[in-house]
Amino acid sequence: MSWTGDVSHARATEAVESGARAAELGERGTPPVEMVHPGAPQFEAAGTGSSPVPDSAWAAGDSGKLYRIGRWGPPYFSIGARGRVAVRTAPGVSGSIDLPAIVEEARRRGVESPLTIRFPEIVRSQVARLQGAFGDAITAVGYGNRHLGLYPIKVNPLRHVVEEILDAGRDFGMGLECGSRAELAAALPHLRDDRRLLVCNGVKDEAMLALAMDAQRLGRQVIPVVQSPEEFAVFRTIAARRGEEPMLGVRIGLSGWNPGRWDGCAVPDAKFGLSPADLLALLERFPDVLPQLGLLHFHLGSQIADLSRLRHAAGEAAQIHASLVARGAALRYLDLGGGLGIEYGDAGASAAEPDYSLTDYAHAVVSAVNDVCRSRSVPPPVLVSESGRALTAHHAMLIVPVLAVRERRGFTVGTRIPPQAGDATLWLVRQALQGPRARDAAGASDLLGRAHGAFGKVGASFAEGRVALEEYALAERAFVTVARRTIEVLRLGGDPLPARVESLQRSLADRVLCDFSVFRSLPDHWGSGQAFPVMPIDRLNERPDRRGILVDLTCDADGRIDRYVSSDPDTSVLPMHAPRPGVRTELAFFLMGAYEDVLGAPHNLLGRVPEIHVRTDERASQGFRIENIIPPTTVADVLTQMGYREGELRTAMGDLVASKIAADDLSAEAGCRLIDRYTRCLGQGTYYETGDAAGPES
Ligand SMILES: Cc1ncc(COP(=O)(O)O)c(C=O)c1O
Repeated sequence: MSWTGDVSHARATEAVESGARAAELGERGTPPVEMVHPGAPQFEAAGTGSSPVPDSAWAAGDSGKLYRIGRWGPPYFSIGARGRVAVRTAPGVSGSIDLPAIVEEARRRGVESPLTIRFPEIVRSQVARLQGAFGDAITAVGYGNRHLGLYPIKVNPLRHVVEEILDAGRDFGMGLECGSRAELAAALPHLRDDRRLLVCNGVKDEAMLALAMDAQRLGRQVIPVVQSPEEFAVFRTIAARRGEEPMLGVRIGLSGWNPGRWDGCAVPDAKFGLSPADLLALLERFPDVLPQLGLLHFHLGSQIADLSRLRHAAGEAAQIHASLVARGAALRYLDLGGGLGIEYGDAGASAAEPDYSLTDYAHAVVSAVNDVCRSRSVPPPVLVSESGRALTAHHAMLIVPVLAVRERRGFTVGTRIPPQAGDATLWLVRQALQGPRARDAAGASDLLGRAHGAFGKVGASFAEGRVALEEYALAERAFVTVARRTIEVLRLGGDPLPARVESLQRSLADRVLCDFSVFRSLPDHWGSGQAFPVMPIDRLNERPDRRGILVDLTCDADGRIDRYVSSDPDTSVLPMHAPRPGVRTELAFFLMGAYEDVLGAPHNLLGRVPEIHVRTDERASQGFRIENIIPPTTVADVLTQMGYREGELRTAMGDLVASKIAADDLSAEAGCRLIDRYTRCLGQGTYYETGDAAGPES
């Protein structure tokens, strides 16, 4: 593709003439439409707008395909016929809940977005599905023992979440996994029921090991899992000092690697775990520990992408289990760790997206362990799983309002063309006025290259002071129009867009300012490029005719989303609707319940958003009830976390105002209003406030 502009003076003159003609014919320029969220800042922009009338050629199912909901939504999320997101809190329940109705009800109760919505019943449903899948696999394979699920607290340590999981898993003896002293402290009091197992992973100091031993003394099944020879030495020293022989587990590193995003838990890269060689050396040195060895643990990493790797690892672990049993180990449990993957629908990350069902997962591990136990004639151990992501991801979503949309301005007929405009500019204007000329991909590619070259020329002349700002702006607008049209022709051609065209498309996309923080709410996107499904909560029966890049409230360039779940060939932009003036656009980020709640950071001092917990309620008119409202972090809360004291802040502010009043620089009333405003600010949430949140003017 040639990207040099071929600009002839004759054609340029024609362009001016046709521009004048078009203007005479009274073609209308595009209306300014960009303010979305009433009260929000309006970027200076003029957009192409779009008709709010549903397009009969576009139905809810088309949005479903576009946002790939079939990959990540079932069995909980779908799009209703009216183009609104529908939530089912368990597979097979008859009715679904209308998501926009929940958001409206929350607002009616004084809870504005940004907002986290939790569906505790989804957590319960996932617990039951996991248990059911293992139960079925055990029956199908004829496995001679049971499955025990443990919830790894680190995945979402919020009390509501942990308690819901434990309650849902009561009948199955669901236990917990912890990886730090604080997690152990949170977990221990939950062990009222002595059937529940608590596995302690992570690096354990003396205090943590002693606490685990205390719990064993209280008759609880708390198993510290030794991760290294050094940790074993500390364990042994404490046990000897206490004169006890506590049960322990051992973590092994395996060769069954996981090529997903969160790999790195297999030998030789493993951060934790004893290699088979280390383990053997340890047991040969301390054979007396074998009767205390109750659990063998491995963890391949999160989001296991390939089940054959897991099958291989489970087989390898079962072989080690059988060998240790033969040496006299009292092994009761084989702990498979976490890693049960879920689909986020990220087309760009197909290598890391798991492509198996819960049933496949359970069957793979049960049959792998069963085969080894049968062939080695050892009793099958209790199979322990530590799935976190799969239990929690679906239960939470983040609702984010769009504050403003800034569109790159295109060419509008009627724009004044400066008399001294040069050839390159006039050529661009002519192309913009002539409408879509390229009929095929080759023509579009050629036109795009020439337009790019022409705009480059104008830019270079501007930098040298030979072109006025007015002309440069005109050339930019004309280029934007031509580029949009030609890229559309290229896209319709169906071939993947070349990288530079994709990057141009990105630069032409709307910048959509949203009321949230990537650092706080989507840390895995910021830190590891994970794409989360996001889509509007309504209008899904209208064709999304714009493409946007979501940017957050923070002051950083990386406070934005640059990978989306969509079937659009370019996943770096989100297909969206043109905003409707005065109507609030709400977007929902899905699968937010695992890790995001705890990894988020208060960058720019943006705190937690408010949250509501929603349950189905057949007696309620809309089929749901909000059972719990948790207010957002206030400004005072985040400042306290950073070491400030609210009282001192207020006093300092009061002193400042008093000194101004004393110096006759400020009236007493104005001073009072100032103090009021500051005090009100400390009590407010940390996100964008609309309306009269600022209080009366001074
Ligand atoms: C030891 C251990 N168990 C369980 C998990 C949970 O994994 P997942 O959320 O992928 O199920 C992790 C997370 O990495 C882990 O390190």
